[in-house]
Amino acid sequence: MASSTSFSFFSSILFLLFSISIAATSFRPKSLVLPVTKHPSLQYITEVHQRTPLVPVKLTVDLGGQFMWVDCDRDYVSSSYKPARCRSAQCSLASKSSSCGQCFSPPRPGCNNDTCGLFPSNTIIRLSTSGEVASDVVSVSSTNGFNPTRAVSIPNFLFVCGSTFLLEGLAPGVTGMAGFGRNGISLPSQFAAAFSFNRKFAVCLSGSTRSPGVIFSGNGPYHFLPNIDLTNSFTYTPLFINPVSTAGVSSAGEKSTEYFIGVTSIVVNSKPVPLNTTLLKIDSNGNGGTKISTVNPFTVLESSIYKALVKAFTTEVSKVPRVAAVAPFEVCYNSKSFPSTRLGAGVPTIDLVLQNKKVIWSIFGANSMVQVNDDVLCLGFVDGGVDVRTAIVIGAHQIEDKLLEFDLATSRLGFTPTLLGRMTTCANFNFTSNAS
Ligand SMILES: *[C@@H]1O[C@H](CO)[C@@H](O)[C@H](O)[C@H]1NC(C)=O
Ligand SMILES: *[C@@H]1O[C@H](CO)[C@@H](O)[C@H](O)[C@H]1NC(C)=O
Ligand SMILES: *[C@@H]1O[C@H](CO)[C@@H](O)[C@H](O)[C@H]1NC(C)=O
Repeated sequence: MASSTSFSFFSSILFLLFSISIAATSFRPKSLVLPVTKHPSLQYITEVHQRTPLVPVKLTVDLGGQFMWVDCDRDYVSSSYKPARCRSAQCSLASKSSSCGQCFSPPRPGCNNDTCGLFPSNTIIRLSTSGEVASDVVSVSSTNGFNPTRAVSIPNFLFVCGSTFLLEGLAPGVTGMAGFGRNGISLPSQFAAAFSFNRKFAVCLSGSTRSPGVIFSGNGPYHFLPNIDLTNSFTYTPLFINPVSTAGVSSAGEKSTEYFIGVTSIVVNSKPVPLNTTLLKIDSNGNGGTKISTVNPFTVLESSIYKALVKAFTTEVSKVPRVAAVAPFEVCYNSKSFPSTRLGAGVPTIDLVLQNKKVIWSIFGANSMVQVNDDVLCLGFVDGGVDVRTAIVIGAHQIEDKLLEFDLATSRLGFTPTLLGRMTTCANFNFTSNAS
């Protein structure tokens, strides 16, 4: 009798635990939301919660990066850390060619035997090392597209262990990088796999270091204050795959995980800029083309493209006196020389023409010019030299206050015009949680 009572007591406890876990897992978010803060070093920093117990982890956002890596050498304490064993499903998801490693120090996160490894890369200073592939709990906020809603956890989120020395050049407090690139273990791919939503994410970088922009992972809607719905405001252009990896360390035949688009010409104030269009195509060695990057603060152009753009731009404003250059820029003016408009300084518009003459990414003053000090405004493009890998690298300043939606499944990029034209900014997502 006593044993049957305790049995039924035990089974009802089990039942209760079971229903709690069902209740917890049956909440299926449609999308997730991460804040992304512009640091004065011009890095864009997001934060996830990781480990058991959960701690906040700050990561520099690398749009085309392959995966999340964090420093496991220092202060990595977690009861749920699991190294990925050689030949496991996790190792094959991480890489077709991942190595099988031994570690000749006492075991700890980042140092275990018979684990597969990858090459975490600090793409800000271009430094790579090798590191153990592992999984741990990651928790982020879900969203309804208006506010963050409740936090959701992914129990076995794959990442790579970096080292303390790999943090050099990253903003203070940052302990790794968050890769949003195009492969199976980037953040958006793992989020999509965990909650069965579309392999899609949207980035909105704030131009202000005081209030964060936002990254959505999953489906829209995308709502910003005051009551601005950007869900249907996109122009679409195809994303291209560069057949040759652009990562710090890669093996032969590996594709790039970065996001390339097809710029076909550049137009300044409706006048075409004469360019060597061969540079705009990705060749069989993976050179040329146009990619989008959050680790380059400003757009970097191959030298001949840079010179042609500068000539076209300065010709349009030839009556405005130039002032001394402020590195890394060459073309600078007194800020009072231009009228101020809702879209930034009233300067010639720079249009990137995409797949046809009707699909245009227009760059107005707020995105083309950089206020380097109280008095001086410079054309915010940088000469990359003649030996660049990628002809046009669209940098963070040029994508601020626009919402960019990367759809990995359909391989297309959706981009909005500058949000300044809609009387809002990327800092206007309402981060007040609505968790009920
Ligand atoms: C890995 O195996 C080697 C050889 O058996 C041993 O010396 C070493 O301590 C082990 N390392 C870890 C982290 O367990
Ligand atoms: C255009 O660029 C390609 C690729 O760098 C180069 O081989 C070619 O010589 C260039 N053409 C001209 C006219 O400069
Ligand atoms: C932001 O969202 C919260 C929670 O839904 C709401 O109470 C608040 O009014 C919103 N803020 C604005 C400015 O609308």
